[in-house]
Amino acid sequence: MKKKTIGVLIPIIIVVGVLGIFIWPNPVIQNTSFACALTEGNPQGPYYIAGAPYKEKLGEILEGQKLIISGQVLNQNCDPVPEAIIDVWQTDSNGNYNFEDFTLRGKIKADENGQYKLETILPGKYSVAGVMRPAHIHVKVSAPSLPSHTTQLYFEGDEPNDFFVTPSLILKLDEKDGTKYSEFNFVIFTP
Ligand SMILES: [Fe+2]
Repeated sequence: MKKKTIGVLIPIIIVVGVLGIFIWPNPVIQNTSFACALTEGNPQGPYYIAGAPYKEKLGEILEGQKLIISGQVLNQNCDPVPEAIIDVWQTDSNGNYNFEDFTLRGKIKADENGQYKLETILPGKYSVAGVMRPAHIHVKVSAPSLPSHTTQLYFEGDEPNDFFVTPSLILKLDEKDGTKYSEFNFVIFTP
């Protein structure tokens, strides 16, 4: 094979490979025929670590913009999902994941009405194969005996957006006393 052909093929293989890592485990799920439309899915990506502990706050000891996201976990009939679990992982303010321990990784428990509150810091952007990803928080939302629903949350005004960002997953941010606030309801499928 000619050198020129190889030079063209290698970047294509890298891009397809990276997209495959992000897309393959969790295809995008969308169904708007329900009373409450399912939260759009987003790929898990390669940085998930199973077994994160239950927490009420993430990143307490880290510097960064404080962020509180709250809302409810509902099903496709708009009923609350009691005791839902939101498994969260994200980068620090500089766009770095921690792999040594469960810093900025944890499971948030919703209450009997599906209400949850996530206290954390605003994540940073990072580069994948030379392409910048906007700031995002990964989540797997589930409940006892239910499969998890995987997606990512993004933030208004952030740039650059990439292939995975969809309007329904972009959070609007308010600010009070130096803390950013947002509300987001997750809608997951229950049998
Ligand atoms: Fe990520």
